[in-house]
Amino acid sequence: MTIGIDKIGFATSQYVLNLEELAQARGQKIEKYTTGLMLDALSITPITEDIVTMAASAAQEILTEDDKANIDMVIIATESGIDQSKAASVYVHHLLDIQPFARSIEMKEACYAGTAGLNYAKLHVEKNPESKVLVIASDIAKYGIESAGESTQGAGAVAMLVTSNPRIATFLDDNVAQTRDIYDFWRPNYSTTPFVDGIYSTKQYLDSLKTTWAEYQKRHEAELSDFAAFCFHLPYPKLALKGLNKIMPKDMDNQAKNQLTDNFDLSIQYSRQVGNIYTGSLYLGLLSLLENSQTLKAGDKIGLFSYGSGAVSEIFSLQLVDGFKGMLRSDRMADLEKRRALSIGDYEKLFYEEADLTEDGSASFDTYATGDYALKSIQNHQRIYVRNEHD
Ligand code: HMG
Repeated sequence: MTIGIDKIGFATSQYVLNLEELAQARGQKIEKYTTGLMLDALSITPITEDIVTMAASAAQEILTEDDKANIDMVIIATESGIDQSKAASVYVHHLLDIQPFARSIEMKEACYAGTAGLNYAKLHVEKNPESKVLVIASDIAKYGIESAGESTQGAGAVAMLVTSNPRIATFLDDNVAQTRDIYDFWRPNYSTTPFVDGIYSTKQYLDSLKTTWAEYQKRHEAELSDFAAFCFHLPYPKLALKGLNKIMPKDMDNQAKNQLTDNFDLSIQYSRQVGNIYTGSLYLGLLSLLENSQTLKAGDKIGLFSYGSGAVSEIFSLQLVDGFKGMLRSDRMADLEKRRALSIGDYEKLFYEEADLTEDGSASFDTYATGDYALKSIQNHQRIYVRNEHD
């Protein structure tokens, strides 16, 4: 029996900040973003869109009624939680109408937790081959107006259905993880935005990659040329490109090198338009690669590098299965092009709006565009979600 990813869905916000707009407002050259970071635009959420609404929308894109009757675990990986106690997956379980005898939990370790979620899902399916596990990585990356990280914000959710005999890719059970206790990026409970040691964080990302890859190579006698593509956590694509160049052997033959760099370019297409989505970034890279590649084929191996500040990193791989293309979309870029462009003033207002709670803990919100689900109001400190009626 093989276990792996059977379906992948994605949702982001309906608003976008084009980086020309940010460059002009912050007195920067646009090339700093488009070439220096390899980013073009950032998804921006209004107050009515959060990790629950995006997670539910991403899952709704892929689930059938049969899936909902057979899912027995819902895992949400996030670092933009809406409650210290109640898991976001409990709301999502309800919004999607998943059968009641399911376990719903939230997992956290910065951008890494989606990978932990996939591992837990795999172990569960190993013991329960009929089970389907829904793993969703959902986050809003918000660094603050005029902060160094402002140009690397973003928002989105990637939903993955983990099953036996998957129709996209199987896990190859080769995971190598590393933990190091550092302060490169962290967000204490009392702060709505993270503290970041930006340059230090990039060095830690690259060093974690180098050392985890060396350990992976040692344990599995692996070479980079074993992989048709390598996907990376994408805080911004340029850092991942530096990572790829770091692990690429100088004497690699040109054909293998070109295949890896061409596939790298395909893996960053969505992130260039969306920005950092923290836990979902690596998997948005995987989705971008799979949906845009015309050359990948069944049997190809894809390496993945997961990194979460703090820091935990992991390298593992997937193998594509026959017919994987039939499980994917080919028109997703058109969704991204439909997002509404924000002026700098509207971005600052929309992205940083906070609920104005009455004494009894209630708030209502203006109507904004959202995906399939929206946060309608807060009543007595309880969040009220609705499903939108699209025409
Ligand atoms: P910065 O001050 O925006 O930019 O900081 P910079 O001055 O370092 O410039 C960025 C790049 O643009 C540089 O390239 C410049 O040379 C280039 P590099 O030297 O790195 O190759 N540049 C230009 N290129 C072309 N034309 C120009 C031009 N001007 C400059 N005119 C920084 C960048 C990443 C520090 C900042 O954006 C930041 O703090 N971001 C947030 C932290 C982050 O993303 N860290 C990444 C590693 S940690 C991680 O991945 C985990 C994370 O996802 C969180 C989690 O795990 O939960 C963040």
